[in-house]
Amino acid sequence: MKVTKAVIPAAGLGTRVLPATKAMPKEMLTIVDKPAIQYIVEEAVNSGITDILIITNRGKGVIEDHFDRCPELEERLLASGKQDVYDEVVSISKLANIYFIRQKETKGLGHAVNCARSFVGNEPFAVLYGDDVIIGDDPACGQLIRAYEKYGKAAVGIKAVPETDIHKYSSLKVEHLEDNLFSCTDMVEKPQRPEDVLSLYSILGRCVLTPNIFDILDNTAPGAGGEIQLTDAMRCLAQTVGITGVDYTGKRYDMGDKLGILQATVEIALKNPNLGEAFKAYLKEIVPTL
Ligand code: UTP
Repeated sequence: MKVTKAVIPAAGLGTRVLPATKAMPKEMLTIVDKPAIQYIVEEAVNSGITDILIITNRGKGVIEDHFDRCPELEERLLASGKQDVYDEVVSISKLANIYFIRQKETKGLGHAVNCARSFVGNEPFAVLYGDDVIIGDDPACGQLIRAYEKYGKAAVGIKAVPETDIHKYSSLKVEHLEDNLFSCTDMVEKPQRPEDVLSLYSILGRCVLTPNIFDILDNTAPGAGGEIQLTDAMRCLAQTVGITGVDYTGKRYDMGDKLGILQATVEIALKNPNLGEAFKAYLKEIVPTL
């Protein structure tokens, strides 16, 4: 079955980015000239997704406004002859069919994804974590969708993380299949002891799930940090039918982390057709002074 639906969980509290995220959702933090979540929606659309459910909560209404029309602003832009900016602003509201639902309590990523059950129905669907921006020529979500279509199993985006950091991530038991694809048969969330580490491969930012995940989530007890972990539900899929791991191409930026935000800003600014050259010249000027 073709994957046309995506879910973007964006209801986290963003405590690692405080005080910026006290009133502003981290998904709306700007990278150069667009909020992080717009890069994510564009990646989904470029992967063939037509319908997107964004999971929000209190205080995140600004995300809805961003994907809505804005008649007053549009009129002003047209009246002042700013046709290019007008076109860009209007195009944001036409990227996809975008829906919103609130996660009423912040009970974890697994709990957030479970809010998407009625939107998803009985179809496979993509999950794009709202604070992970991935930039690359071949959209990461599309790479996972191809892996799902080829192997018929849920697919997760994976990357090797440093040994010293694996306790902050999930750890996967993997076997190489071909190219950048792996078969994954087990996983553990935030392994605290060295003997719990299955490999340095971790799920980062993207997955394509089968709808049976919802029944599994219904029966998933709170795990690491007292939250309902998506990884715990995915482990059940991995152990029973297996999951495909995709070591996707593309650079991931963690917008839930202050250093990640700075890296995204610098690297994406350097690639910007209007600002890139001037920004590079500025960096060359200040780097020798460091
Ligand atoms: P994170 O664990 O990185 O987000 O979840 P967080 O809880 O905001 O992080 P802290 O507070 O800085 O540690 C990954 C994604 O899942 C969403 C987040 O918005 C983020 O996009 N999420 C997390 C939810 O939608 N609901 C939750 O209950 C938890």
